Amino acid sequence: MANAAFPSYHLVLFIVLLLVSSSHQLQSSYAQTLLRIQGLLNFPTVLSSWNKNTDFCNTDPSPNLTVVCYEESITQLLIIGSKGTPSLPQNFSIDSFFTTLVRLPSLKVLSLVSLGLWGPLSGKISRLSSLEILNISSNFLYGTIPQEISSMGKFQTLILDDNMFTGYVSDWMGSLPLLAVLSLKNNSLSGTLPKSLGTMVNLRVLALSMNQLSGPVPDLSNLTNLQVLDLEDNYLGPLFPTLGSKVVELVLRKNRFSSGIPSEVSSYYQLQRLDISFNRFMGLFPPSLLSLPSITYLNVADNKLTGLLSVNMSCNADLTFVDLSSNLLTGSVPNCLLMDSTNRVVLYARNCLASRNEDQHPYSFCRNEALAVGIIPHKQKGPKRAAKVIIALGVVGGILGGIVLVGLLFLAYRRVKAKVTKTPPTKLMTVNASTGYTSKLLSDARYISQTMKLGALGLPAYRTFSLEELEGATDNFDSSTFMGEGSHGQIYRGRLRDSSLVAIRCLKLKRRYSTQHFMHHIELISKLRHRHLVSALGHCFECYLDDSSVSRIFLVFEYVANGTLRSHLSEGFAGHRLTWTQRIGAAICIAKGIQFLHTGIVPGVFSNNLKITNILLDQNLTAKISSYNLPLLAENMGKAPIGVSPSGSKELIVAGSSKHEDKIDIYDFGVILLEIIVGRPITSQGEVDVLKDQLRESIMADDAAQRSIIDLEVRRACIYESLKTVIEICFRCLSKEPTERPSVEDVLWNLQFAAQVQDSWRGDSQSSEGSPASPSQAPARELAFQLQ
Ligand SMILES: *[C@@H]1O[C@H](CO)[C@@H](O)[C@H](O)[C@H]1NC(C)=O
Ligand SMILES: *[C@@H]1O[C@H](CO)[C@@H](O)[C@H](O)[C@H]1NC(C)=O
Ligand SMILES: *[C@@H]1O[C@H](CO)[C@@H](O)[C@H](O)[C@H]1NC(C)=O
Ligand SMILES: *[C@@H]1O[C@H](CO)[C@@H](O)[C@H](O)[C@H]1NC(C)=O
Ligand SMILES: *[C@@H]1O[C@H](CO)[C@@H](O)[C@H](O)[C@H]1NC(C)=O
Ligand SMILES: *[C@@H]1O[C@H](CO)[C@@H](O)[C@H](O)[C@H]1NC(C)=O
Repeated sequence: MANAAFPSYHLVLFIVLLLVSSSHQLQSSYAQTLLRIQGLLNFPTVLSSWNKNTDFCNTDPSPNLTVVCYEESITQLLIIGSKGTPSLPQNFSIDSFFTTLVRLPSLKVLSLVSLGLWGPLSGKISRLSSLEILNISSNFLYGTIPQEISSMGKFQTLILDDNMFTGYVSDWMGSLPLLAVLSLKNNSLSGTLPKSLGTMVNLRVLALSMNQLSGPVPDLSNLTNLQVLDLEDNYLGPLFPTLGSKVVELVLRKNRFSSGIPSEVSSYYQLQRLDISFNRFMGLFPPSLLSLPSITYLNVADNKLTGLLSVNMSCNADLTFVDLSSNLLTGSVPNCLLMDSTNRVVLYARNCLASRNEDQHPYSFCRNEALAVGIIPHKQKGPKRAAKVIIALGVVGGILGGIVLVGLLFLAYRRVKAKVTKTPPTKLMTVNASTGYTSKLLSDARYISQTMKLGALGLPAYRTFSLEELEGATDNFDSSTFMGEGSHGQIYRGRLRDSSLVAIRCLKLKRRYSTQHFMHHIELISKLRHRHLVSALGHCFECYLDDSSVSRIFLVFEYVANGTLRSHLSEGFAGHRLTWTQRIGAAICIAKGIQFLHTGIVPGVFSNNLKITNILLDQNLTAKISSYNLPLLAENMGKAPIGVSPSGSKELIVAGSSKHEDKIDIYDFGVILLEIIVGRPITSQGEVDVLKDQLRESIMADDAAQRSIIDLEVRRACIYESLKTVIEICFRCLSKEPTERPSVEDVLWNLQFAAQVQDSWRGDSQSSEGSPASPSQAPARELAFQLQ
């Protein structure tokens, strides 16, 4: 204990010296911390100006190095190393580094970029409880993002880009109430995104690009401040994210999105940059994207978008980049894109556009590809079944009877019982390759005449719909849009974005098949377009998550709004019952429809279970067959015992192998003709026989009483020769023996003859006013009907 022997003044002096030195030390403890950080970072070039004499609080800030002090403590520290700085040597200790760093407890802003930091991000960082902004990009930090960060309630900006973080984006992220910028780009984060992201109402920037995130994007519609959403290069999908309308930049490039583009996108009035390239987006390319008020960059390349572009579409003059390449677009590139394009890049190769400049596929390629785009997303909400809807509204714009009955079912009214809505099994859209699909049926299909070609009908081209589009059209299959239930599923009325009405048939499949299995059916259905058929406009597949087999098929048909033929005959429609001329006209329409089904396409479609309640009239009173034997159901359901009643499937086979398969439809047509003549509903087979006999008698009879079997509207204004021709062909159609029934050509010839006879009488008669059946003119016309 030599020290103990020192004189006391020595001790005093020592203490005084110690105090002086220590007061200096205390003042600049942060300086020591900074110098220690310099050492721990292995003296990077950017800190080369730092030494013991540096007055840290009074040096000029530079973009690479900034120290800001407030009342003797450091509030901001920015150290930006040079790009590509390699990781620090082995002796670097991230733990010592953070232990040192937290000695600067007043830090509000901390940027430590490109310094070669390596190791896990320590939870100790949460001791910097004032921290508002943290940017530690471009280092080599790994491990999970520590949960301790969730306690840092003042965080506004958290940037961990270009590191090697793994693990999930955890639910606790949502508990940072003030967070405005969350950027985790270019890490190795995986798993699904937490729903809590949707509650971070202050979020302005959410950048999660270049990770391995998968699954759906949570509902972000409550993030009304969100301006930038960058999800590039992950495995996210399938549904287009739900966002607030203030988004400025939206990047979904290189993911697994495969839905349609929702109509809301057209309302993103601040959207400047939209990049959805390299996904499997399908459905219509909304031309409105080109004319969004703020858009300057639009990239939809490498998707499955369909649609017809035309030269006179409009676009935003400020667009500097447009890439439409590798989609299924048809038509012509809009002029507005090509005009004064000096400052604009416009790419559109590998579509089916009319252009000589960039390489394009033939139209058929886009069409076939569009047909093959299969799988669509599934939301929790399934089509709801409406409670007790009366089908007899008859507006059943649909198809098919898989069940074939030789006898006829005349069910005028059918009540649909309420069914409990079951929660469908979890489904998800998956990606389905649709490469090189060619159909033999496509080449086999032939048309009987030019007028039957696609496009001659004034209908839009057949296409694939996205489930979103159909959900949008039907208000999520709301019960108010439910029209009825057929043998294979429900029918909904929908209004598409272009405000056209459609009838959507939803077919639940009993057996699991891949989409490819259905492609030749779909292709055939797409050919079943004719003026006198309620024609198919498109389809949509919904698939199971587990094996991508099809769970439901939605078939979209044109909507024929003017009621059934029966309603025009027996009740009268809007106060008018059809005239004789109109009735022959309707019969001719139906016969032409049948002719098309039988011979317009190969193989023909027979045994269509034709009923007058399935004959719909459009606004021009053109009759259309709405329910025909869709090949899809005939084959699939016919093979599946559950799909069809046992007798039904048996008849189907009999019908298919019969030499007279076409004659079943002829009989059914005869029944419709009978109802056209007598003008009242026929609801049973027995009634058909009775009425046939009565009609036979009446045509021989002289007295008006017996003639009364014929509809008054007909008697009033028809030419006998015309009526007789129709009645005769009707009888022949109703022959018990199929071989005795006429061919559809024979039927057509006779009906056209009847129409001509009636017409020539109209031409000869002096009165040219109105239709012959106008009730006010009835007495005069009745004279024309002279049964002999
Ligand atoms: C900042 O860093 C960049 C690149 O790392 C370098 O070019 C530049 O000279 C640095 N500026 C200062 C003021 O150190
Ligand atoms: C770490 O190792 C480097 C040499 O690789 C050496 O220059 C440096 O001083 C060491 N740092 C510490 C804190 O030991
Ligand atoms: C993080 O800091 C670096 C260097 O200043 C900067 O380049 C980068 O943009 C910052 N990150 C974000 C997301 O602001
Ligand atoms: C992603 O981060 C790594 C470091 O983890 C870096 O080397 C690479 O350049 C970054 N990639 C991009 C595209 O920024
Ligand atoms: C959005 O906010 C409303 C009102 O606070 C809330 O009812 C709704 O659940 C929120 N939606 C989501 C997806 O968080
Ligand atoms: C151009 O637009 C007009 C009406 O806006 C339309 O009638 C016309 O068919 C369009 N022309 C082409 C080639 O699409």
